[in-house]
Amino acid sequence: MIKLSYDVKKYRQDILGLVNPDDTVIELGCHVGGTTKRIPETCNIIAIDNSPEAPSEMEKLAHVNFINEDVRLHDTLSKVFQITQSCDILAIDLGGGYHPDTVFKVFYIWSSTFKPTHTIIRNRGILEFFNSAQGSDESFVSQFGYLESYHDSGIPPQIKEFELWTSSFVK
Ligand SMILES: C[S@@+](CC[C@H](N)C(=O)[O-])C[C@H]1O[C@@H](n2cnc3c(N)ncnc32)[C@H](O)[C@@H]1O
Repeated sequence: MIKLSYDVKKYRQDILGLVNPDDTVIELGCHVGGTTKRIPETCNIIAIDNSPEAPSEMEKLAHVNFINEDVRLHDTLSKVFQITQSCDILAIDLGGGYHPDTVFKVFYIWSSTFKPTHTIIRNRGILEFFNSAQGSDESFVSQFGYLESYHDSGIPPQIKEFELWTSSFVK
């Protein structure tokens, strides 16, 4: 299942409604652990955030494997892959208003790699797109936390697109 939300309370509810006590959870954008500390301590939790505020707070959650790095980078993905090759829950919150294209790319790459049973994404733009778009009658649907149509297409060794974007024209 793939779940989308914007409200952080809904995001947390969605995670807690899907997680099981023995699950492996990968949380991208944990900040200071507001969601992480609600996830059962019996889970195998890998939480990642590149904020300088995160380490001192995340260190207090001794059961969590915290990584203070950028989730857009291949090296970060590779580091997590050395810890686990699959996960039950992939939770992504890079900020509710964060660029939806970045969040989708992060979702695509991380979910293709770890094949989660469920992915929970907090992002306003992706939610708005999903709620607004009308699909055709072609039946591309995934029952999992990743896109079945792309799941074996492989991961680019370096995510070059991240260096190619323009900044805003509005000052
Ligand atoms: C809204 S906060 C997350 C809140 C948290 N999920 C919670 O429930 O309390 C968004 C976090 O995403 C992190 N973030 C944004 N882009 C990131 C990136 N490329 N790599 C790692 N962390 C990132 C930010 O540092 C920030 O802490």
